[in-house]
Amino acid sequence: MSRHESPRYLVRFHPKRLRHVFADVLILGSGIAGMRAALATPPDLRVLILAKELPETSNSAWAQGGLAGVLSPEDSLSNHVRDTLIAGDGLCNEKIATEVVRDAPGQIADLVNFGVNFDRIGNDLALTTEGGHSHARIVHALGDATGKEVMRGMIAKARSLSHIEIWDKCIVIDLLTYEGCCVGALVSSVHGERLMIWSKQTILASGGCGRIYRESTNSPIATGDGMAAAFRAGARLRDMEFMQFHPTVLYVAGSSRSLISEAVRGEGAFLRDKDGDRFMLAEDPRAERATRDIVARAIFRTMNRTQHPNVYLDLRHLNPDHVHMRFPGIARACHEFDLDIARDLIPVRPGAHYTIGGVAVDPNGRTSLAGLWAAGEVTSSGLHGANRLASNSLIEGLVYGTRCGVGASEEASRLPDTYHVPPISEKEVRDSGQNLDVEDILNSLRSLMGRSVGIERTGEELEKAKTMVDFWCGYVWRREFAGREGWELSNLLVMARLMIQGALTRTESRGTHFRRDHPLKDDIHWQRHVDCPIRLTGIQSLTPSDTGA
Ligand code: SIN
Repeated sequence: MSRHESPRYLVRFHPKRLRHVFADVLILGSGIAGMRAALATPPDLRVLILAKELPETSNSAWAQGGLAGVLSPEDSLSNHVRDTLIAGDGLCNEKIATEVVRDAPGQIADLVNFGVNFDRIGNDLALTTEGGHSHARIVHALGDATGKEVMRGMIAKARSLSHIEIWDKCIVIDLLTYEGCCVGALVSSVHGERLMIWSKQTILASGGCGRIYRESTNSPIATGDGMAAAFRAGARLRDMEFMQFHPTVLYVAGSSRSLISEAVRGEGAFLRDKDGDRFMLAEDPRAERATRDIVARAIFRTMNRTQHPNVYLDLRHLNPDHVHMRFPGIARACHEFDLDIARDLIPVRPGAHYTIGGVAVDPNGRTSLAGLWAAGEVTSSGLHGANRLASNSLIEGLVYGTRCGVGASEEASRLPDTYHVPPISEKEVRDSGQNLDVEDILNSLRSLMGRSVGIERTGEELEKAKTMVDFWCGYVWRREFAGREGWELSNLLVMARLMIQGALTRTESRGTHFRRDHPLKDDIHWQRHVDCPIRLTGIQSLTPSDTGA
């Protein structure tokens, strides 16, 4: 291994010294995409879902706003497709957007059948709007805890099916490959035991890497483990320069960085700077309901202009009873800091929210690695382009989860019950990770990413960040860690390298990627995806792929 080379496996292992487990379909991740994949499998297969923590605490369970789907007669599928394409800033795949939008209402109906209780007005599902949506089409639950209710219903349904097993607190260390195929995963169980899980087909549904930033709306589990494992196993990743920053994250010293849902602006909240000016009026005709990339950038610039660490959400002109009824979770989170969301200004600033790039998949959810499928935030499907439309992520997870569940099951059913267990034995001894202060490197990485790979970037800052990350990779990747923190650090360094490389390569500004040194969109050269390199060694440069949007 050269000084900067990402190792193929994070740890050494030998098949004869580990316990083996066999599944027909192995699902890595227990959020909405993984759970939906499992619910699409037939009862004659053995399906195993691995949750990094508990399925109830996945990143999906943290979702506030809702799911977008055309359910009103005043709306149309073509409106939703158009809004998705506009938000995506020229990089969405229109065919994929059309298919996902078409399937969304059916997926919402399936959730109702699984027992999910969405908020209603009379018998009808209540619909709201969010930034970039031309019509009210967001269904929600428990006011502002949509993810919690959706996951409750899906987990209950999955637990009622005897062919589906869910293993809690199971960490995926790496994907196993044999002769160019994914054949399962090396994992660390709830007891810390290392296991080899052999599967006929594997579905990656492990979410994004939002926790690579200090200011993040994501659950602590979002450390890019699945993306990094797929990268090491040879799957194709792309568009890692596109990280979506949510405009409004509660900013109070001592608070966790709680999301303040986009639905709050959807219901009419204003954004004000420290002097009380509604700055979004001058930024975009849609004002506070512009798409996320535009609002997050406007907040960032306003904070710089006013030399103030945040801006404010203002709901004081809205009906206080409605505000409290509609956003009970946000009201509770703010109340902890003596803020009444109906009467006080809420200090907010942007935070990393959604990894738009990821493992490239075809329309069925197949990755470039045989035997490996992927769904949800871990992927780059072509739906989100350069900037995801609000509330399109959960429907993507549902649609692709279903496709992966069906496709992987069909494939697994065709394969015989023989598993190829390759005689893997890595003898190369690595340094131990024990003497490294992992937390310290993580903190430095998170600060660096915020400073240099944030809402606005420049080539010069990115080059410096790359040198710094390269330096850390040099001594982290040659070590073998015994547990989660070290593995997460190794994975986040892979993510950082890929994100920086993509951001350096894309010498234009589009969607969530804004280069101060290339502030314009350049359709001639860059209306295309950027493939990640196959390997990370020393100085790398990316080449734009010609696969088109
Ligand atoms: C939100 O509630 O603002 C988040 C919804 C999303 O990320 O789509």
